[in-house]
Amino acid sequence: MIKVWDYKDEYKILRKKVLKSVDDVFKSGTLVFGPALDRFEKKFTNYIGTKFGLGVGNGTDALYIALKACGIGYGDEVITTSNTAVPTVTAIVNAGAKPCFVDVNEFYLLEPKLLKSKINKKTKAIIPVHLYGQSCDMKKINKIAKKNNLFVIEDCAQSHGATYYNKRTGSLGDIGCFSFYPTKILGGYGDGGFITTNNNKLFDKMMRIRFLGMERKKMSSGHWNGKYYAVEHGTNSRLDEVHAAILYEKLKLLDSWIAKRRKIAKLYFDSFKNTNLELPIEAKGNKHSYYVYVVAHENRDEIIKELTKHNIHLNISYPWPIHIMEPYKDNVCKNCYCLENTNRYSKRIFSLPMYPYLKVSEQKKVIRILKKII
Ligand SMILES: Cc1ncc(COP(=O)(O)O)c(C=O)c1O
Repeated sequence: MIKVWDYKDEYKILRKKVLKSVDDVFKSGTLVFGPALDRFEKKFTNYIGTKFGLGVGNGTDALYIALKACGIGYGDEVITTSNTAVPTVTAIVNAGAKPCFVDVNEFYLLEPKLLKSKINKKTKAIIPVHLYGQSCDMKKINKIAKKNNLFVIEDCAQSHGATYYNKRTGSLGDIGCFSFYPTKILGGYGDGGFITTNNNKLFDKMMRIRFLGMERKKMSSGHWNGKYYAVEHGTNSRLDEVHAAILYEKLKLLDSWIAKRRKIAKLYFDSFKNTNLELPIEAKGNKHSYYVYVVAHENRDEIIKELTKHNIHLNISYPWPIHIMEPYKDNVCKNCYCLENTNRYSKRIFSLPMYPYLKVSEQKKVIRILKKII
């Protein structure tokens, strides 16, 4: 069977290092908020290129904590896209705010031109989702946000290592939010998340919110200290030592994995460029990191059925836009009829197998069979 994503070959290569790093943590006597987290936070923050960074429990929490740190809550509106993973919107609603959707463009990304029509007195933030591994047009988004005094919280759950005019996603807005869910470009062996920022005040606040509203101060000895006293309302969202240690090892390989993903994307592109399959486009100034390779075709459902018969497993990201889902129907603002591209894409898009250890022979099999079908 050829899966759309698989980690087993990666694990064969990393096994010794992963098990050693887990063993080191277990022997250390510290399982949360210890040196493995400090070390990973420093390394991933440097990699993204911001001044500050903190590990959290998962990507949904990262977004929630970011929104709360910006003071967003009941009565506020947050603009994002409906062609995204549910958690982008879960976080907005958890924070007490109302999601407000704008349509996506030909890159499947938030279309900056449409922002103006959705901004009103209640709007407090924009969450551009760097979907599928490619950055939104952040110059335009930041310009509109600045003019309207809005926070920009990047949803980087799918865009680790992707760059926009040579700067990494997560360093382009006020706050960057990452997920280390296993399938992600940098994925753990369980849940994990991360937040990046250049803003000292937001960083301090997010550090408190992730730990029940308590202060944790680093002492000159390098140890953390703090009294068990909540100075504000927070939540509990920790990236534990085991996952921080595993991610530290995996981060060393991230750029080589992105190079492999780009190579796979190139072979798909070269193979299908003269067919009626719609292929992903890399926007100007962008280096796509291909979390998923999303294509589109009017006979999507038949294609998937046929490929399944050949033991090729495909995925749809996402078959239902959020604004039509029952729990979020009442949360959307008026004008959601205007999500024309979002609605159209949801019926046509599907993802081809994409992960660094996908074998060339497997990819060629997918290409051969898919070509025959279309
Ligand atoms: C676009 C997007 N945002 C947010 C998240 C949430 O991440 P997590 O699953 O770690 O909570 C995900 C991952 O599922 C995602 O794909």
